[in-house]
Amino acid sequence: MPTFRFPQGFLWGSATSSHQVEGHTHNDWSEWEKKHAERLAREAHLKFGHLPHWEQRRPVAEDPANYISGAACDHYNRFREDFDIARELGHTAHRFSLEWSRIEPEEGRFDEAAIQHYREVLEALRERGIEPFITLWHWTNPVWIAEMGGVENKKFAERFERYTRFVAGRLGDLVKFWVTLNEPTSIIGAAYLNGNWPPQKKSLLSAYRVYHVLAEAHNRAFHAIHENDPDAQVGFANILQSFVPYKKDSWSDRVTVTLAHFFTNKYMLRLTRDHNDFLTVQYYFHTRLRFIRRTHNLDHPESDLGWEIYPEGIYHILRWLKRYNLPIYITENGLADDVDSRRAEFIRNHLCWIHKAISEGVDVRGYFHWSLLDNFEWDKGFWPRFGLVAVDYATQARTLRESARIYAEICRTNTLVLADPYLGERSEEKERATGTAPEIPASPGT
Ligand code: FCB
Repeated sequence: MPTFRFPQGFLWGSATSSHQVEGHTHNDWSEWEKKHAERLAREAHLKFGHLPHWEQRRPVAEDPANYISGAACDHYNRFREDFDIARELGHTAHRFSLEWSRIEPEEGRFDEAAIQHYREVLEALRERGIEPFITLWHWTNPVWIAEMGGVENKKFAERFERYTRFVAGRLGDLVKFWVTLNEPTSIIGAAYLNGNWPPQKKSLLSAYRVYHVLAEAHNRAFHAIHENDPDAQVGFANILQSFVPYKKDSWSDRVTVTLAHFFTNKYMLRLTRDHNDFLTVQYYFHTRLRFIRRTHNLDHPESDLGWEIYPEGIYHILRWLKRYNLPIYITENGLADDVDSRRAEFIRNHLCWIHKAISEGVDVRGYFHWSLLDNFEWDKGFWPRFGLVAVDYATQARTLRESARIYAEICRTNTLVLADPYLGERSEEKERATGTAPEIPASPGT
């Protein structure tokens, strides 16, 4: 049976973020949820009614309580138990985020209890032999930052640097890998262009400003962390999409692909050049563009959220990133799959393509599955289930999904054994050559 061995020391793990798992956070998102839960519940059917098995999800998705993060997974109190599970699953690394609103609840006032909590989180990981990757900002802002204009205000970058300095000084002895920002372009798209996420703007000018403010925030944080520890490794979490034209000979499709690729995948890398010790890939989307419309292939499987599953896309992204000549970590990759019927295959197939990239000289050093636990999926609430571990929100009981065990075997052996490797079967070249796939409406996506 074909066997794919990963490089020695390859890191295996999963990822979470504070607002999605900790419970009882108080930040701009928690405030926004209170105001918008009723509306999101009302709109759910319109947005997701086309998805398979919708009738089963509908009662939860139409309940306003679904849109309030509330206790989430109570990970703030249960982190040790959750890390026991990660260790049991053979994970050697774990990515999580600090909740800035806990650490600096008011401007300039840093909370000792909060920073002590995160020291304990880091110690708990180290005690279990799990390498921490810390994210400093996974989208949520302290309320005072939001009131100042959030990531659109130039002052954000200075405030973020000050927070980073404080954190690096207090936690730096326990952390080697730092992820400054999570997916700047997702926030730019969903919060400043589409107007879906807080602060719900629809402005090209705002979007442009936010690119620059976030890039400056990252660059400042990069220096702040290195001043504290010259050996620290710093990067930012970048969502990268694999774009292809709907028709390869269509001039307009090719122009939009070039623009989308530039603004989604490339621009932040350009604005942060020389300020990254490593690059990251967060891969969820393969996007076929017909001018400005997203289309996908009817014959490709989809997740519970209707996101097309296209493992080969990660390979093309990795090949493209090779030119930057930096180590790469896959800091997120996963799917909503309530009944766990596709997750194991999803993981195996993505890893197969990642391995192909590695065998062609791309320096990939780790893989973090999104997510360790089911969690609060932003404006979609609790119904999408991304966890290797299922969470019963009524009791907070954790249950391992079968795919978690299959992934654990890969982590433990550093090896993927795949009866039917995906390689070559659905190559984009082949699709391009055979023309186009039937069009269906794009999924809502993030
Ligand atoms: C990513 C986010 C993460 C989670 C997954 C599904 O874009 O970084 O918090 O919501 O999508």
